[in-house]
Amino acid sequence: MSLTDATYLDYQATTRLANEAFDAMLPYLNAHFWNPHSAHKLGRAVAASVENARDNVAALMPPGGRVVFTSGATEALNLAIKGSMTPTSIIAVSAIEHAAVLDTADWLAGQGATVIRLPVTPDGLLDLAAAEQLLPDRIDLLAVMQVNNEIGTIQPVEALAEMAHARGGLFLCDAVQGYGRLPAPANADMVAISAHKIHGPKGIGALWVRDGVMLSPLIHGGGQEQGLRSGTLSPALTAGFGAAAKVALARMEDDARHVQHLWQLAIKHFSDWMINGSVEARYKGNLNIRRDGLDVARLMSEVRDVAFSAGSACASGSGRPSHVLRGIGLSDAQAKKLYPFGVGPLYDARRHHIGRRNVKRRRRGNFMITVNFISHDGETEKLVQAQVGDNLLKVAQAAGLPLEGTCEGQMACSTCHVIIDKLWFDKLPRASEDEEDMLDLASGARRTSRLSCQIDLTAELDGLVVHIPTESRSMQGV
Ligand code: FES
Repeated sequence: MSLTDATYLDYQATTRLANEAFDAMLPYLNAHFWNPHSAHKLGRAVAASVENARDNVAALMPPGGRVVFTSGATEALNLAIKGSMTPTSIIAVSAIEHAAVLDTADWLAGQGATVIRLPVTPDGLLDLAAAEQLLPDRIDLLAVMQVNNEIGTIQPVEALAEMAHARGGLFLCDAVQGYGRLPAPANADMVAISAHKIHGPKGIGALWVRDGVMLSPLIHGGGQEQGLRSGTLSPALTAGFGAAAKVALARMEDDARHVQHLWQLAIKHFSDWMINGSVEARYKGNLNIRRDGLDVARLMSEVRDVAFSAGSACASGSGRPSHVLRGIGLSDAQAKKLYPFGVGPLYDARRHHIGRRNVKRRRRGNFMITVNFISHDGETEKLVQAQVGDNLLKVAQAAGLPLEGTCEGQMACSTCHVIIDKLWFDKLPRASEDEEDMLDLASGARRTSRLSCQIDLTAELDGLVVHIPTESRSMQGV
């Protein structure tokens, strides 16, 4: 199996570059290679594209602030914390922040700052009562993420921002997992985001800074990015980020509906697993589950064609136990029984179903495959499990789908005519001349039409997508 055939369930780690982002980047990688900081006409033309991208990124943020491009969210979080704090500052962070926050705060503690770690409840939400008790009357910064990158819990960031402001401090929000998926934290003072989590390119992120918040630069030099981040900007990366943000804004509601649909499928399939973190206050594109008696390292080695993570992508290679799972009260042994996965807008339900089926196959040793029937208008889908060797027409009929098959495979009726999704068409054995003749006579036959009675399912057809043709049949069964 090739790498690109793997089922990808790791959307918290990264996402595929959107076509729109790819197209937006291309001119700046070749013909429009000019430096956006040059004063001449060509430089100014590219600089205009950078500002256009900045506007698109800012469109997902609250009004009253500015976007500073960085190399990613880690740099943005470093800039926010080191750029606004001093060795005498009092900084509070949640116990389940990303390492970019925790380690930066710890570095400042080494310089003399006071760092307070705030606990979370067993469902992965910041313990507001404990925070009220632990925070002194005055603080300089409170940093809490919007959506946790491991367990997907959504923190009450507006209330936390008020808590920081009531103590005279700034509120920093790591919104890497929420940006483009949820409304931005309205009253934060600084927000860190990353392009590659929203189908943009890797190597670029941003810090949104509320007007009036003053920062010191981390990188000194030519004074680019409002004096906060010296170094030549990459117009290709900014264009890709801007295009991805534009797509995310346009698709936010549709994507939310799609992710909710996948969540419903997932919790149904994994109904006998335990979910880590709150189910309600959760981004539904994150499923983090565990099961007694199952070792995630072993599962990963047995299910190599499903890409899922055991903890955050940044920490999973380190061997460090997850501080997030410890934070919600799980032991290291329980953390090893995790099977977390994330889904995204460009991810499809058929793939999810394959992933689930592959896990089951390894555990049970059977050879079930999945067929996805889709109505002619694309509105309705029916996922059906079938045995290798089953006939496609019989599978459809057993599922109550309206394929008549009146000649029972004698190739005299064509009432079993289906349209194979073009991605799958080449995986089928070639049609016989008799079948092609019959399809020539069938009304509405298209280039990827086949007679379902002539198709016996093989393991290679796992995930097959079949469109039910239209005119003569309804899809009431779907
Ligand atoms: S059942 Fe008649 S052609 Fe397939």
